Amino acid sequence: MAAEIIDGKQISADIRAEVAAEVKKLKSKHGLTPGLAVVLVGEDPASQVYVRNKESACAEVGFNSFKFELPADTSQEKLMDLVYELNNRDDIHGILVQLPLPSQLDSAEVLLAIEPNKDVDGFHPVNVGRLAVGQATMPPCTPAGCVELLKRSGARLEGANAVIVGRSNIVGKPAALLLLAENCTVTIAHSKTRDLAGVCRGADVLVAAVGVPKMITGDMVKEGATVIDVGINRTDEGLVGDVDFEAAREKARAITPVPGGVGPMTIAMLMKNTLKATQMTLPAQAR
Ligand code: GUN
Repeated sequence: MAAEIIDGKQISADIRAEVAAEVKKLKSKHGLTPGLAVVLVGEDPASQVYVRNKESACAEVGFNSFKFELPADTSQEKLMDLVYELNNRDDIHGILVQLPLPSQLDSAEVLLAIEPNKDVDGFHPVNVGRLAVGQATMPPCTPAGCVELLKRSGARLEGANAVIVGRSNIVGKPAALLLLAENCTVTIAHSKTRDLAGVCRGADVLVAAVGVPKMITGDMVKEGATVIDVGINRTDEGLVGDVDFEAAREKARAITPVPGGVGPMTIAMLMKNTLKATQMTLPAQAR
């Protein structure tokens, strides 16, 4: 039987509506409006689109958004000064520096400078550490979006074998920690994994985050598995994921499409993290 298609667009819209409802409460009870600062250095066209999408999502949920556009030849010192300034502003609760940065800039140093409680990307080592010890205040948006898709599509996570293909700091590693927190038995597979097909065939939950078009073939998917495809690859046949969708949907219980699966979730989770960052500025009993 063909799989249920997990509708990331709809689930993202549901989450944004939940965030908007919370924002209304924050405004009426505390006079507080979440503020997200987005920093864009240079003129990378893809980054410009991402930043525009973030701004319109902010408007939709009722956040203030602040865009800081710096020229491509911006110095490290100038960017660091901006981050310090944003750290100190009370009207800004979340800071996102759009990656990748131009090559003269040291992104690790920039990410380290962001105040961890304003790090809505969840990339600061303090937040990575919190995630590792089970205090996931601000999990990275894309893997957190994968977990939401799994939960809202009815996947049973407790005791499930979860295999994540890909070990990046942005998706693979944090996805593993988040699924461990959901009581999955977690395996991270990667380019050096022996018998990758066999490992994937053991997965009740299969998350593909490698950036290789259609690398996960139908024979690598267990009957009844839930498949989450994080890949967005531009090919001659248009956008395709890391999973051979047509073949995998014959085996899976549920599967995300590309586009329209994981993609729309990243912004929804960014809105959720910014809301959380704002709520965290209130005394605990007032949240
Ligand atoms: N560039 C592409 N995706 C992202 C993201 O999630 N966060 C940041 N900061 N930059 C990105």
